[in-house]
Amino acid sequence: MPIRNTPERWGALAKFFHWTLALLIIGLFFFGLYIADVLKGFDKIAPTNLHKSLGLIVLGLALARIFWRFAGGAAPKLPLRMPVWEKGFAHLGHLALYLLMILMPLSGWWSVSASPLTTPVKIFDWLTLPHLTTPQAAAQLAQSLGLIGAELTGSRLMNASWNLWKEVHGAIAWGLVLVVAGHALAALKHHFVNRDGVLRRMLPFGGPVPQKD
Ligand code: HEM
Repeated sequence: MPIRNTPERWGALAKFFHWTLALLIIGLFFFGLYIADVLKGFDKIAPTNLHKSLGLIVLGLALARIFWRFAGGAAPKLPLRMPVWEKGFAHLGHLALYLLMILMPLSGWWSVSASPLTTPVKIFDWLTLPHLTTPQAAAQLAQSLGLIGAELTGSRLMNASWNLWKEVHGAIAWGLVLVVAGHALAALKHHFVNRDGVLRRMLPFGGPVPQKD
């Protein structure tokens, strides 16, 4: 299978990015909910470190994927028979996925940076990254945007800001998962209703698709 895209199908590297990121993002979504809603106290520490490490790997892979989208050869075209409005909708969905794939880990990194606990941002023990902000600057931003009470000060302010940024991270996760669900449903419609091979050309071992139009 060629590494680069061909007019008929996605290349091996584009497929690798697609399915690795899909698995990691869906896994991290449920793992994040489990950490936030089920675990308590010290039991959170090791799973949160794993969540942070894998989430930062998602950021690296998403950036590499965007680079490869431009460098890996033209994307295979959508079927000629597909209505223009549907093509427009598909392109908008893909754009949203790329944006959310970047915003998702950045919002997690930001929320950890906004925490008054000043926990490190690390990819396992391989690489320590800087904080994106300070708890004070993140709290000021939240207050100036009117997202938390202007009257809050001291530790109440820091905690309100940290909780807010964690909620933003959670809201982006729900947004991303909804777009992913719409994207997967559209791919299934192409496969079972239109039978046009749009899903097959992205499958790990999917071969070239006979073009009907
Ligand atoms: C694709 C990447 C990611 C996905 C899909 C994801 C998803 C989630 C979800 C769904 C939650 C639960 C939110 C809630 O219900 O409040 C969560 C929590 C969290 N995430 Fe992420 N996340 C990602 C990346 C990151 C990164 C890169 C970091 C930090 C570097 C991070 C740090 C956290 C933290 C600290 C929590 C809160 C856990 C707690 O409540 O103590 N996440 N994440």
